Amino acid sequence: MIVDRLRVVGSPLTNKVMAGELSRLAVRALGRRPPEPRKAGTGTLVYPFDPGLAMVACSYLRTATRAVWDLYASSATRLEPLYDDLVADVAADARCWLRDGDAISVATGNVAEFAAGERQVVGTVKNAILDGAARRGLRVTVDPDRPDVHVVARLDDDGSMVVGADLGGGSLSQRGWRRAAGAAPLREHVAAVLVMLGRFDPRRDVLLDPMCGSGTIAIEAALMARGAPRLPHGLPPGLDLEPLADTRRDDYLFGDADPLIIGADRDLDALIAAKDNAARAAMTGHVVWQRGDVTQLDPDDIAALAADRGKTADHGLILSNPPYGERLDDADLRLFYGALGDVCHGFRGWRGGFLVVNEEFERAFGGRPTIKKPLSNGNLRGYFFGYEF
Ligand SMILES: C[S@@+](CC[C@H](N)C(=O)[O-])C[C@H]1O[C@@H](n2cnc3c(N)ncnc32)[C@H](O)[C@@H]1O
Repeated sequence: MIVDRLRVVGSPLTNKVMAGELSRLAVRALGRRPPEPRKAGTGTLVYPFDPGLAMVACSYLRTATRAVWDLYASSATRLEPLYDDLVADVAADARCWLRDGDAISVATGNVAEFAAGERQVVGTVKNAILDGAARRGLRVTVDPDRPDVHVVARLDDDGSMVVGADLGGGSLSQRGWRRAAGAAPLREHVAAVLVMLGRFDPRRDVLLDPMCGSGTIAIEAALMARGAPRLPHGLPPGLDLEPLADTRRDDYLFGDADPLIIGADRDLDALIAAKDNAARAAMTGHVVWQRGDVTQLDPDDIAALAADRGKTADHGLILSNPPYGERLDDADLRLFYGALGDVCHGFRGWRGGFLVVNEEFERAFGGRPTIKKPLSNGNLRGYFFGYEF
């Protein structure tokens, strides 16, 4: 069956955050709010396909890892009928997502429940696309290293096999700005999720990450505040760019935003990495880097820094993923979280947001979180804790 949907994929339990970010971006870039998406599981949104929305998702959405144009769906449970369904669909498909001479690669998302192995699914999908395209007179080849179109096959939550074009040409989480990773970097899209969960408003909040490591949260917060585009784009040729006629693809959506973001760490090497990363992200002027121990942090110093920049620090957000025990034993970690809590609770009028994988955090930090939400960073399962100080 030929389908026409935009699939936005992210980390588990982030549907609401992704939908909220995409809606805000679409209103700004396209002047319209997207329709309510269908939720396929807890980390996937499915919209009716809309080239403008697809462009916004690929270029500006920071909380997602993939944006896929769903093209075909088959309820086949074996390889042969899957091949037959796909060949017929590709041959009958008038959309120009494939051009004569294009090379494709085929990857799978989640196909573990299918009755054949991953490599067989890849082979079947590849053959079906090549043969279906040939019936339309298109010569299509396979080039896993430099494809024009990244095809991805995955099982949907209703059990159908969905085949689509990965519009970002791979993970959207890799933005291209990270050269130096630091010891325990946060994945970029997870940092963006934290910024959304912390409800960072660059017009009124100072954002402070006092354990910034390689700077992921600070840099992503700056990029989000300014609506920076993700470059380069890997959009397939069939996308109609007309809906974005007024928005050049390399435009900043909120180019007039002037956020105050502070990244601090006690580790000099981490700060050097963070500065280097910020330069590559073209965010040097938007983040202030400081060396210091978080347990010595003083709200008055932050207020003075803000005043130097013509801002007030009455409202702010401390957003961080603190160390979780890679270097400290549990007793030291409890003491550290306790000291961190004491410092943070001194930031009256501010909010806090922490991604933590260590169970000791909540009790040692003190106070009652306003949000406690399961959230993972890659394989590390943890929680996001939100506070009002
Ligand atoms: C889990 S890492 C943060 C990773 C960071 N979000 C990134 O993306 O690279 C924790 C950071 O806390 C810093 N840190 C640990 N103890 C600290 C302290 N007392 N004061 C300031 N920074 C500290 C470490 O140097 C490390 O960079």
